[in-house]
Amino acid sequence: MIKGFIFDLDGVITDTAELHFLAWKALADDMGWQFDRDVNEKLRGVSRMDSIGIIMEHNTVSLPEDEVAALATKKNDIYVASLDQITTEDYLPGARELLTHLRQEGFKVALGSASKNSTKVLQQLNATKYFDVIGDGNSVSKSKPAPDIFLFGAEKLDLKPAECIVYEDAESGVDAAKAGGFFSVGIGPKDRVGHADVCFSSMKEATLFEVKSHFKELF
Ligand code: G6P
Ligand code: MG
Repeated sequence: MIKGFIFDLDGVITDTAELHFLAWKALADDMGWQFDRDVNEKLRGVSRMDSIGIIMEHNTVSLPEDEVAALATKKNDIYVASLDQITTEDYLPGARELLTHLRQEGFKVALGSASKNSTKVLQQLNATKYFDVIGDGNSVSKSKPAPDIFLFGAEKLDLKPAECIVYEDAESGVDAAKAGGFFSVGIGPKDRVGHADVCFSSMKEATLFEVKSHFKELF
């Protein structure tokens, strides 16, 4: 029986991918590294340190660990400054409606994001009130595709994985949900999240009604 929902943040509740892109691009330009939207796509759902690793590998660059950490911090400072422009109008279409609906129907709701900036993003959206538990990049050490962040959320909600549906827009996020024994809803193209139990092209289609009809026997 489904009693709870766990949501990824970036790409599910709001689209911060563009802001991440601009911040990585500023750092890459500064360093003389190649970085474009195709490389940015590979960073979806990937932790900050793993992301800089991917960008450096793409540029066949290697640096001492402390320098890499300093560069990741530099990118983060640019990214955090850009979060001020997020407003309550910046939910992905359908996301606020779904969160409201879940509250009305009494489901338990957790956030399960890799981002260490989740609290700030939720505040900008005025979305903190929709969540019983905030699981973010500070909550666990192993990032997606490890299931830890979703297991953290389920445990705090006092639910078993099989009682929760995870919403994800990243390949690694769907992998993490499956590894943890959660039901999964993929948001985005089939070649990215087609391995989820059910896949919708956007949050607008992924309504409670649609999800209930798909997982009929679980409600
Ligand atoms: C999300 C995004 C990733 C980002 C990660 C860490 O999963 O999809 O692109 O790298 O969070 O974000 P942070 O805000 O901690 O740098
Ligand atoms: Mg995401």
